[in-house]
Amino acid sequence: MRLVYPVLKKARGLVIASPVYWFSVSAQTKIFMDRLYAFIGPKGHGLKGKNIGILLTYGDVDPFSSGAVNALRMFQDAFTYVGAPIAGMVYGSANAAGEVNENKALLRDAATLGRQVAGGA
Ligand SMILES: Cc1cc2nc3c(=O)[nH]c(=O)nc-3n(C[C@H](O)[C@H](O)[C@H](O)COP(=O)(O)O)c2cc1C
Repeated sequence: MRLVYPVLKKARGLVIASPVYWFSVSAQTKIFMDRLYAFIGPKGHGLKGKNIGILLTYGDVDPFSSGAVNALRMFQDAFTYVGAPIAGMVYGSANAAGEVNENKALLRDAATLGRQVAGGA
């Protein structure tokens, strides 16, 4: 994280992508979120005012039965707490490797979110 904090500080925004594991984010995503707790400087939290994008995939059919809602809620609360607006959340079912490529609407939404987080249209 000592390498990552300066990159985050300079960035306009941040997109976090995670699979849903056991009805929440993956352990790797959770560790990253935990390390953001310490990202506080003289002017407040290091992510304050930055655009946040969230991407989630899951194996089940919808955001409720998959547990994606738990992850979405955690991100909402976490980024409200640090003062970083969530530009959007894109999530959908994609289980097998490469399956997501068949869901053109989801890919389009993800690309739009990326542009929004970067400050474009
Ligand atoms: C350890 C593990 C736990 C999972 N738990 C869930 C779950 O709680 N809900 C769900 O809908 N899918 C679950 N899945 C399916 C994954 O969310 C889905 O396959 C995802 O697209 C995998 O992304 P990955 O290839 O990056 O691991 C789980 C998969 C794994 C390997």
